[in-house]
Amino acid sequence: MNSTKALLATPGTVLLVAAAGCLLIGWPASAQDGPHLGIIQPGGMPAWPVITGIARDTNGVGVTWDGPSGYYRLFQSPNLRNPNWQPVGGPNPNRIATLSVASSNAFFRVSGPAPQFAGSQACLECHQDTHDTVMKTRHSSATISVTFLAQGGQTNGACLRCHSVGNGLPTGFSLLSVTPQLAGVQCENCHGPAANHAANPDDPTVRPRVELAATVCGGCHNASWVPAAVAASHRPYYEEWNTSGHRAVRTELQADFAGSQGATVYIPSCGRCHSGTVRESLLEHEPLPDGHEAGAVGIACATCHDPHQEYAHTNVLSGLMTNELTGAIITNNQLGMIYTNQLRYPLASTNDYFLSTSDVFTNKYDPDINVCAQCHNHRGAAWSSSSRAPHHSPQYNMLLGTVGELDLGTPSNRPASHALFEKQCVRCHVQAADAVSATQPAVSGHSFQVQSFDTCRECHPQPELLVQFTTTAVSNQIQFVKGLLDQWAATKAPEALRTKYGALAWEYTNPGDLSAGTAGPSSSEQTLIPVNIQKARFDLYLVLYDGSYGVHNGPYAITLLDTAQNWVQEELNQ
Ligand code: HEC
Ligand code: HEC
Ligand code: HEC
Ligand code: HEC
Ligand code: HEC
Ligand code: HEC
Ligand code: HEC
Ligand code: HEC
Ligand code: HEC
Repeated sequence: MNSTKALLATPGTVLLVAAAGCLLIGWPASAQDGPHLGIIQPGGMPAWPVITGIARDTNGVGVTWDGPSGYYRLFQSPNLRNPNWQPVGGPNPNRIATLSVASSNAFFRVSGPAPQFAGSQACLECHQDTHDTVMKTRHSSATISVTFLAQGGQTNGACLRCHSVGNGLPTGFSLLSVTPQLAGVQCENCHGPAANHAANPDDPTVRPRVELAATVCGGCHNASWVPAAVAASHRPYYEEWNTSGHRAVRTELQADFAGSQGATVYIPSCGRCHSGTVRESLLEHEPLPDGHEAGAVGIACATCHDPHQEYAHTNVLSGLMTNELTGAIITNNQLGMIYTNQLRYPLASTNDYFLSTSDVFTNKYDPDINVCAQCHNHRGAAWSSSSRAPHHSPQYNMLLGTVGELDLGTPSNRPASHALFEKQCVRCHVQAADAVSATQPAVSGHSFQVQSFDTCRECHPQPELLVQFTTTAVSNQIQFVKGLLDQWAATKAPEALRTKYGALAWEYTNPGDLSAGTAGPSSSEQTLIPVNIQKARFDLYLVLYDGSYGVHNGPYAITLLDTAQNWVQEELNQ
């Protein structure tokens, strides 16, 4: 142990990596992401400095680069033909520098710490729990899996950069017989070279980066950089995720997070579902991030996956679970069996769940709720709230039939047959497939859209037609009930509302998407709206904002709309 320590403690010589770039105009978007990994690199966390942005702003020129934690130095030269590299500023641990330059076309390069890899054995001493769980994921066997060996991966650099630690670098993986400690995907793929940290754990400047952004996983989990011969077994996780609504915090919320009510309102209440960094802080019981940081990472890979976890879940529907590695069906108390795709609860859950603004996250958090339902729940929506329509996220409760108003009040449970799939939402929204041919490439399911109806054919002979029929019928009924509400507004609404708000007389104070206009009856005027109308608009918006137009829970959606229709009709008949 001591000799390893002595070896690890050898101070990393400063390695010059020629990452030169020329001054461009305008800030690239990535420059805003200063501390986050702004690029994807095969192998995960880059082990060497890479310049990610050079741009002029009002203060001068901003240069950003990426690489592992440690000290860097920035150099500039007026040209490349006859370079005269001059240091700019002193050693810099921040991976961002702003300088005022004289020359309008300066070139820059960055030198950084030499990558010193240690291998996860060196982390054991202090991070035993993490080490033990990471070793049980498929990451740890990425160099030695039977298929990888069969495909010649073990001696192919084009494969090893994603299937081992630091391949191609002096202290990285070379051959299994020479560097067995660096085989597989390990800590240092995601955290950067960490030998200096292992030797000097108290030195904050070499503490490995903890990166939540999807770029760290995306460097390997993409189909773009994989040799064509093995494209069939590699799925475009990063590419598809990058097209989804999960990829980033929506722009207006980024502004809200950074605004004056960010820390008091938006970050704690909206951030729990809309921001990867806020959610991570809540899950880890850490202080909430600031406004910029809260807006920096969307629903990233590590928001749904937990790279440090092995989970053994019981399928609530059958009491059984399947070991992903062997395909064997196992029972919960069978020791040594692991179900891991590093996910925070991949299976179905059937108990009602929602997270309202007033809920303390840690009191309400339930790790046994389906991963999608953790956020796609009704958020505490109630017919009696009059300021705005229920949120766009009631999918889980719609699936279970636990939100909405019926004649007898809020139903306790009207689950769709679709709620009883083993993986619930995932069966329809996360459908992965290997490549079939060049024109039918692999799919990862990470656009989270319903990309194929094949899975439906087990129960519906013509799912496309059924979907078309159902969504058309539900859309039409939504418009019909909306028309009745407009009719009520025009003919039956109390005079005060009718004259002041016209067709908006039935709406929320902040009208929903069914109406044009921005101001409905004020909160005091809302009491003039009959309860029947308030309940009807609530049901109507639940079905609309569920977004599936009756696919999730067809019979229940229709029941809600029928009930709403009857209530409005009653008011019209008065
Ligand atoms: C001798 C003990 C020791 C060893 C060996 C060690 N670490 Fe650490 N590590 C620490 C301490 C102490 C911290 C700081 C913990 C804290 O601040 O909460 C830390 C923090 C970290 C962090 C989190 C940094 C952060 O900002 O939260 C990462 C990632 C990490 N270590 C990775 C590694 C890896 C990878 C290895 C193996 C190559 C390793 N460590 C080996 C003691 C060690
Ligand atoms: C596949 C990528 C990946 C691998 C492999 C990995 N980590 Fe992490 N690690 C992360 C991410 C992402 C986070 C932040 C999110 C989280 O905590 O779940 C993190 C967080 C950490 C933290 C911060 C505190 C904590 O526990 O959340 C430490 C310490 C850490 N990792 C150490 C290690 C060590 C040691 C290993 C190897 C035994 C390792 N990690 C392997 C991705 C990885
Ligand atoms: C850009 C990074 C990258 C490169 C390059 C790469 N892989 Fe992979 N490989 C992955 C990832 C990530 C996975 C996990 C599955 C996925 O994400 O599609 C994987 C999975 C695999 C698997 C499935 C593992 C198993 O045991 O079933 C095999 C086999 C494999 N790769 C072989 C290769 C071979 C052979 C090469 C080189 C010809 C290669 N890979 C190059 C990233 C890469
Ligand atoms: C319980 C989790 C949760 C909370 C808390 C939450 N949201 Fe959402 N929100 C979602 C989900 C899930 C969607 C996506 C629904 C969809 O695309 O159908 C969404 C969608 C949105 C949309 C897009 C609606 C549209 O027009 O498509 C906006 C805007 C939004 N949320 C704003 C907010 C604000 C502002 C807050 C805080 C006051 C907030 N959200 C709190 C889960 C939540
Ligand atoms: C919104 C949640 C969510 C996000 C974000 C997400 N995933 Fe997934 N991922 C899932 C679910 C759910 C599954 C399981 C699908 C299944 O079991 O059929 C999965 C499966 C996977 C698998 C296959 C696991 C296995 O056991 O074969 C990989 C690899 C993966 N995801 C990588 C990624 C990467 C890389 C990212 C980021 C670019 C990412 N995921 C982002 C939810 C997510
Ligand atoms: C250095 C490249 C690399 C990085 C970085 C990386 N992965 Fe992987 N990942 C792989 C490879 C290769 C496999 C397949 C290993 C095998 O099956 O042999 C894999 C497998 C997986 C699986 C299936 C594992 C299981 O246990 O069932 C998941 C899920 C996954 N990765 C998620 C992530 C997430 C999330 C991140 C980022 C936090 C990440 N990976 C970062 C290369 C990488
Ligand atoms: C951490 C919270 C969170 C989790 C977990 C989550 N989502 Fe989302 N999802 C959101 C938010 C927030 C949005 C809205 C993003 C926006 O429009 O700003 C969203 C949007 C969507 C959309 C709308 C389509 C799109 O691309 O805009 C779909 C579909 C979706 N999610 C499906 C899923 C599925 C399936 C899962 C589980 C595998 C899942 N989500 C897990 C928060 C989450
Ligand atoms: C039976 C398959 C199925 C199941 C199960 C399912 N969905 Fe859907 N979902 C659909 C279909 C089909 C649509 C309509 C898609 C479209 O319009 O492209 C949809 C629409 C949506 C939308 C709105 C789409 C958008 O782009 O804004 C969201 C969000 C969503 N589902 C999330 C979920 C969540 C979360 C779950 C689990 C609680 C779930 N779904 C369960 C099939 C399903
Ligand atoms: C395991 C069987 C099963 C699978 C798989 C399945 N469904 Fe269903 N689906 C049902 C049943 C049963 C109903 C009747 C309503 C109920 O029981 O909730 C239904 C109802 C529906 C409805 C509403 C019809 C109505 O008039 O109420 C639509 C639309 C629908 N499914 C679409 C899909 C789509 C799209 C998929 C695949 C993405 C799918 N289903 C997969 C069993 C299934």
